[in-house]
Amino acid sequence: MRLARLIYTSRPTSHFGISEMVDLLEKAQHSNQRNDITGMLAFSNTGFLQVLEGSSERVNALYHRIAIDPRHHQLSLIAFSEASEREFADWSMAALDVVGLDASRRAATLLQYGTSAVFDPFNMSASSALGLMVAWRTELATSSTSQSRTSAS
Ligand SMILES: Cc1cc2nc3c(=O)[nH]c(=O)nc-3n(C[C@H](O)[C@H](O)[C@H](O)COP(=O)(O)O)c2cc1C
Repeated sequence: MRLARLIYTSRPTSHFGISEMVDLLEKAQHSNQRNDITGMLAFSNTGFLQVLEGSSERVNALYHRIAIDPRHHQLSLIAFSEASEREFADWSMAALDVVGLDASRRAATLLQYGTSAVFDPFNMSASSALGLMVAWRTELATSSTSQSRTSAS
């Protein structure tokens, strides 16, 4: 089993609320821990951007389950490739509410990895999407807000 990384983006269905998000994350983190899957999910009112890391078989199987989940739609696969190491080794599923970020820091990071300050993962390359998530992961790791801290431990 080889280590792989998958990145995709999608749009939440209109009735997706914050309580559904909390429920989704709790279940996902427990399941990912059991399957040695790590990663990060960034979300806004209009988009999800998720990185999944783990054995290629398990990541592939999880993506197929996620793809038929009615809580989102318009899935678009950004990358699925072998990885030499994990970028999110300490996170069963780090979660980041993009809207909750400091506006000027959010704009600066989005401009660094994209063409505008708008969170629009549908128009990101694989390397930009990963770079953005790694930058935000670093911010999460140093942030003390319990709302966004969802570490594996
Ligand atoms: C945006 C999004 C991200 C998700 N991420 C994960 C995840 O990282 N791990 C996980 O087990 N389920 C995740 N899920 C939930 C799966 O789609 C699915 O409900 C879950 O794996 C249970 O599948 P099952 O009922 O077929 O066992 C996610 C769902 C959505 C909508």
